[in-house]
Amino acid sequence: MTSVTITPGKPLRGAISVPGDKSITHRAIILTALAEGMGTIKGYCRGEDCLNTVRALRALGVKIDHTADELRVHGKGLWGLSEPSEIVDCGNSGTGIRLLTGLLAGQDFFTVLTGDASIRRRPMGRIVKPLREMGATIAGRKGGELAPLAVMGSTLRAITYASPVASAQVKSSLLLAALFAQGTTRITEPRLSRDHTERLFQFYDLPLKREGTTLVMEGRPLLGWIAKAELTVPGDLSAAAFFIVGASIVPGSDVTITGVGVNPTRTGLLDILARMGADIQLLNPREEAGEPIADIRVKSAPLHGVTIGPDLIPRTIDEFPILCVAAAVAEGETVISGAEELRVKESDRIATMAAELRLMGAEMTERPDGLQIQGLGRHRENGRLRGTQGRSHGDHRVAMSLAIASLTAASETVIDETDCIETSFPDFHRCLSELSGTRGGTKETGSV
Ligand code: S3P
Repeated sequence: MTSVTITPGKPLRGAISVPGDKSITHRAIILTALAEGMGTIKGYCRGEDCLNTVRALRALGVKIDHTADELRVHGKGLWGLSEPSEIVDCGNSGTGIRLLTGLLAGQDFFTVLTGDASIRRRPMGRIVKPLREMGATIAGRKGGELAPLAVMGSTLRAITYASPVASAQVKSSLLLAALFAQGTTRITEPRLSRDHTERLFQFYDLPLKREGTTLVMEGRPLLGWIAKAELTVPGDLSAAAFFIVGASIVPGSDVTITGVGVNPTRTGLLDILARMGADIQLLNPREEAGEPIADIRVKSAPLHGVTIGPDLIPRTIDEFPILCVAAAVAEGETVISGAEELRVKESDRIATMAAELRLMGAEMTERPDGLQIQGLGRHRENGRLRGTQGRSHGDHRVAMSLAIASLTAASETVIDETDCIETSFPDFHRCLSELSGTRGGTKETGSV
């Protein structure tokens, strides 16, 4: 297993780009695979999660060529997928397994989907239950609550579904199933989660409308859609987040991250950091594949604690590990509530961040639905985190958050189990070394 050693001290300076958005990459692969003809997806996320979705679609009979910069997907049309001869392994990806289950529920063949140990612990009942209401035949461990999931393709019918959880994975799984269902599916969610599926359906002119807070989807469109000659994926704000917080908390930093998606359903972190006193500018606003993007410039600034309630959770959902780091070095208290969903991510992120930042000297109190964090006050003499030996718990965002936290520590930190960073951000170490101007600042070592 790989460990990383972080030597603190240098400010982060310069300009970088980050990988293509992971959520949009999954969706672009699936929708282009269902289109007619060949479509090119540029700037895709090359993390393992998305590569697993590429492998899954290949197993379903879709030819996909890839280079480092683009995927060329030879679409098979709406009804063109075929039965895979092997189990489809989604690796660490919740988006992969949940979206593919929705996609496969209405096919006329049988599929088994699974993933790594983390995926096999995460809740699948949230998609299995409504998909069964649509007529899907799905079996899984604990009555379908846990993967592996065996999907016996069936004829689906539309449903009206009020999702109890603000989850884009649930919504998107159902929208993909609804494409193959007879009738009009209606979906609501308690708060708006990321809307990339809706935007991509619109980009491809699929029969999806929004009526107030309800998504209305006509199933089985008579006409298919033609693959877009070119679709460029915006940079991933959830990857940029590490350097946005890093630049904010390491004194003397000035970082620009180019071409980042700033879809308002994703920008909770920017709003929260602004309230904490961060110096963040959005430059050159423009649009890519129906998504707003901008260059993000961040200079270091003293941060102070804030209160974050349920309203902000869906828009910030993947950024809480790195937000905990910002809160741990800020002046004063930060309270996060209504965030129980964090307990069912790649790790229990409330527990893992509390444990790991405590090791670094932060004062963290766990609550069932969030955290109370007493900031050290980074700009005070004694307000520094402690160098330590931490670990990722197999969670890519925890690994990268601890790396950023280590930049502000009083001494060197070793982070174990960092291989998981590959799932979303294979170039993370290179970006960090580039910005800190120290190839030796982060050292990777192989260990058992
Ligand atoms: C995602 C939705 C979110 C997010 C995940 C990606 C997506 O999960 O945490 O990293 O691409 O739809 P939930 O839908 O479970 O909130």
